[in-house]
Amino acid sequence: MSSSSSSSLPFITLNDGRSIPAIAYGLGTANYGKPSSELVEMAINEAGYRHIDCAQMYENSESVGQAWTSTGLKREELVLTTKLSGSDPRAGLEAELRLLRTNYVDLWLIHTPKVKIGYGKAWSLMEDVLKEGKTRSIGVSNYMIDEMTEMLETAKVTPAANQIEFHPYCYPYLESLVRLCHERGITIECYGPLSPITKGKGGPLDPVLQKIAGQTGLNEGQVLLKWAKQVSRGVIVTTSTKADRLKEHLAALQAPELTSEQVDEITQAGRTSPQRFFKGVLLQPEQKPAEKKSPSTKSKGLPLGSTLMLVALFLLLLPLAMASPAMLFGRDGLGYADPADNGGKLLTVSVSGAVSDSHGADHIRHFHPSRSPKIPGLRVSVNP
Ligand SMILES: NC(=O)c1ccc[n+]([C@@H]2O[C@H](COP(=O)([O-])OP(=O)(O)OC[C@H]3O[C@@H](n4cnc5c(N)ncnc54)[C@H](OP(=O)(O)O)[C@@H]3O)[C@@H](O)[C@H]2O)c1
Repeated sequence: MSSSSSSSLPFITLNDGRSIPAIAYGLGTANYGKPSSELVEMAINEAGYRHIDCAQMYENSESVGQAWTSTGLKREELVLTTKLSGSDPRAGLEAELRLLRTNYVDLWLIHTPKVKIGYGKAWSLMEDVLKEGKTRSIGVSNYMIDEMTEMLETAKVTPAANQIEFHPYCYPYLESLVRLCHERGITIECYGPLSPITKGKGGPLDPVLQKIAGQTGLNEGQVLLKWAKQVSRGVIVTTSTKADRLKEHLAALQAPELTSEQVDEITQAGRTSPQRFFKGVLLQPEQKPAEKKSPSTKSKGLPLGSTLMLVALFLLLLPLAMASPAMLFGRDGLGYADPADNGGKLLTVSVSGAVSDSHGADHIRHFHPSRSPKIPGLRVSVNP
């Protein structure tokens, strides 16, 4: 048995009745592609984590297998989540089981709705794999409102979880999705919860986080984790190379709740500068963002590919722009407009195109104009 007690870990119950720790140690981002046995041992033994978030794409599941088996934990004392990269949920899971040195995982997720065989087919294969008992629960990752709505139309099993980028700056993109997940009991797993301080420093959240940190005695990262936990009501997926920081993250979840005023103040500050830091999925803002106040993202130059794409997009959308003078463009191929003659409603203009995510993988986004029930007004789909 490991030296660190996990008795104070917060847990959450999934819609299939299974219980998992509400904080997970992640093997992607900073640990991506790196053997991480020592870090996983540290997370388990020193920080008391009992939920490890892996993925085929991270290419380090073998080190998780080595690490957890060396801790002395019984398999049932640990929750292992991992994610499908390819198109075959059965073969993918078998490969992960070998690397992770186990005969089942707790949560098997489809990593992205861009799965080649289509998310309807992929989900029905996941349902078959669930019946075989090699995963306790199944779910998805990076599914936005359109994909989730469409998959639920044919799903026999409701996904237990949807793992998504989640912090106040990207929340404006997620509000319908969060409502849907809450209605259907789909646990939201929040990745990148610290992005506003690790990647988006200099934005309008900074003074708000500072103030609430002063009021609560938490640090700014802990305030962000509390916000994510309270708004998502789900699981925090974080990572660190430092045991003390991992303990701090866990302590944040155990601290008294933020007041609703504090939560609202953070949410409002995030709304004034909507942005995402993980570019694998094109998102659609659910409301017109307020004018950006943050200089932080303006100073960052766009890569040449994105710039060319935006120029092409601009030329394609010029006729619409003339009819809709308040047209804005997203950074990764998504445009939206708010025509004066449309009663202030959003006019969304969505684009199918290839973009690169933070791991250099290409993804294609197919927008379904008829499937954005929360966004009123005319929708136009444009294919560059
Ligand atoms: N499903 C998906 O598509 C997907 C995508 C992305 C991530 N994920 C999962 O989510 C996990 C966590 O993602 P994330 O790394 O973005 O989470 P995060 O919790 O937002 O950030 C953790 C990172 O921030 C650093 N950090 C923490 N506190 C800090 C502070 N006060 N100041 C400066 N740096 C600080 C940590 O580095 P130190 O080592 O210095 O503490 C660590 O590298 C990943 O490992 C992966 O498992 C999933």
